[in-house]
Amino acid sequence: MTNDTFSKSFTQTKDSKVTQPEWSASEYEEGNEGQFQAACHAMESINAWNTRDKGYAADIGCGSGRLVEALARKGGWQVDAKDVSQSMIDAVIKRCEGLPVTASVCDASDLSLEKNKYALVSSCWMLHWLKNATNTLEQMVNALTPSGNLVLQWSCGQPRSEGFLLRDTLQEVFDRPKWIERLKSAPLAMYHHPIEEMSSLLESMGLEIVSTRENILISGGENIAGLKRSLRSAAFAAQTVVLGDDVDELIDESLYLLNARNALRISNTEIIARKPD
Ligand SMILES: C[S@@+](CC[C@H](N)C(=O)[O-])C[C@H]1O[C@@H](n2cnc3c(N)ncnc32)[C@H](O)[C@@H]1O
Repeated sequence: MTNDTFSKSFTQTKDSKVTQPEWSASEYEEGNEGQFQAACHAMESINAWNTRDKGYAADIGCGSGRLVEALARKGGWQVDAKDVSQSMIDAVIKRCEGLPVTASVCDASDLSLEKNKYALVSSCWMLHWLKNATNTLEQMVNALTPSGNLVLQWSCGQPRSEGFLLRDTLQEVFDRPKWIERLKSAPLAMYHHPIEEMSSLLESMGLEIVSTRENILISGGENIAGLKRSLRSAAFAAQTVVLGDDVDELIDESLYLLNARNALRISNTEIIARKPD
């Protein structure tokens, strides 16, 4: 993808002064099999494919819509899909033609979800991009029907006591003289939402925690080429926008330092919670 293609894909999100890049659906699709499988695993565990009373589901930060399609096609849900990226929403609309799916561009800070509508709300691999997740969680919880399930999967969910060496190490690379100016419009935006704090927050909003999982292995990063591809399309999406192919150099420097520090721990985390009847 060229710089020119990327530069057409900027959007300004509500809660940020920094110009955020749109995620590119085609780049993302190349490396997201692992994320999709992890989401399917969670759905399996709550029997989402076999729900008798098919109701409404909402998928927040839906990406290119693989889960949305599966929920509608295989699970029989009516799905409302939301993502901040127009490119992703275009991909969802194309993928889900003829299925009971609506898809709209919106920021997680302002989801416009109808209250008490959804028997299932999911958000997979998005929350770590939000500086403040509380308001988004509140909206998701309010949107659930009684006995509705909330499925959250996100990275960087390690307990607060473990710190955030991944981010601190990456920041060190981003601050190098070679990158600091070029990355002014694409700073490192990766946030720590510790699992125990997210659980307490959901409980304080009235949900019951059904299950939690830590350090979920996501397939796709086993070899270095696969890891770089998924970093480029996801963790370094903003930097890819401003650096173009030079992002590969930034990724190499980052991986080198992360390995040297033993800091390449992504801490993929899951909480499934339920609204009481
Ligand atoms: C790693 S992808 C995950 C996509 C999909 N849920 C999956 O599991 O494959 C993260 C998605 O979150 C979206 N996203 C990032 N920040 C967002 C925000 N503030 N509001 C809504 N969506 C956001 C991105 O556009 C991207 O599609």
